[in-house]
Amino acid sequence: MNGFSTTAIHHGYDPADHQGALVPPVFQSATFTIPSAAEASRRFAGESAGYVYTRIANPTLALFEARMAALEGGAAAVAFGSGMGAITATLWTLLQPGDEILVDKTLYGCTFAFLHHGIGRFGVRTTHVDMTDPAAVAVALARKPRMVYFETPANPNMRLVDIAAVATAAHAAGALVVVDNTYCTPYLQRPLALGADVVVHSATKYISGHGDVTAGVAVAADAGIATRIRMEGLKDMTGAVLSPQDAALLLRGLKTLALRMDRHCANAMAVARVLEAHPAVAKVHYPGLARDPQHALACRQMRQAGGMVAFDLHGGLAAGQRFIDALELVACAVSLGDAESLAQHPATMTHSTYTAEERAAACIGDGLVRLSAGLEDTDDLVADVRRALDALPASLAAAA
Ligand SMILES: Cc1ncc(COP(=O)(O)O)c(C=O)c1O
Repeated sequence: MNGFSTTAIHHGYDPADHQGALVPPVFQSATFTIPSAAEASRRFAGESAGYVYTRIANPTLALFEARMAALEGGAAAVAFGSGMGAITATLWTLLQPGDEILVDKTLYGCTFAFLHHGIGRFGVRTTHVDMTDPAAVAVALARKPRMVYFETPANPNMRLVDIAAVATAAHAAGALVVVDNTYCTPYLQRPLALGADVVVHSATKYISGHGDVTAGVAVAADAGIATRIRMEGLKDMTGAVLSPQDAALLLRGLKTLALRMDRHCANAMAVARVLEAHPAVAKVHYPGLARDPQHALACRQMRQAGGMVAFDLHGGLAAGQRFIDALELVACAVSLGDAESLAQHPATMTHSTYTAEERAAACIGDGLVRLSAGLEDTDDLVADVRRALDALPASLAAAA
């Protein structure tokens, strides 16, 4: 087995198959000619391999999928036109009316909205549990949910879930385990090796890495589950197909993923250190810090603590918004994992899909700020964050 970057750069492609082209060609074709009607009927019946239509499969997408499956240690992957495409297709495929899906307290805002206001309308019941509390998880699993689903670290507050412990308990109860690995990428964390059945990603983020693609991917430990996600969730239920051009950009992004993640992590750690020393900050959520309550778990299941940092400001909502407005290098924007550092205010932006009560239950405070540490020089990034904190007026900068 090659190392991570060798796999990310070379896996599944031989230039000799494509007239020596170093970079894989882009198969910008919606449909594929089939040699005969008899062969066409075999392909539709699943009795013969071969391309039919890009919403089902395409060679450029297939290469991206093969690399993601190799990097995550899965049997097969399915690419999508967005992370929400990957998540919704996976859940539409694997859940039925009457099923319960057990999720952590905190989820990305649109995943939360999909569960409560989307698939929830079709008889799937979502229940939240504190997945950091094994006793609470055991009680919830006794109800025999069909699926356990979580993000780790969770967006936006960086809560970690012990993947191996929860997967073992979930499997004992007969539940499938789906993990959103967007914040880590397989470079920092490999949930399938820790027992998860399916990993989903917003590939819009670190995997693309350049803020110019929306994409998603689901990787399954079992090839049969991946085929179902493709033939049901992608082909028939969502149609959320990735474009071949965007798959080519993702293949380019993967080549530098490890290098970029190391820099994102180093920058996030430097920002977290500034935050923890600043009097305007009530709490830093970054599991790379030795004093973070989940630091030991981070060391166990993550290579490094990632490029995202969250923090609560003493001055609440007003302080959060003033801080973001005072940043000069860091842009006010949603999304994450880009070369450019980005900051946003979850309560009024990415997680405004929650009601105020739901946000409180999910531990998303009004003063919480989420920062995606980019690839800029560490000193410049840290100086911008420090200056914006120092600029907070005294009335918003101190504990009440
Ligand atoms: C953790 C997480 N999962 C899923 C998504 C959805 O991905 P996309 O925006 O590519 O649909 C996001 C987007 O921010 C995310 O942060």
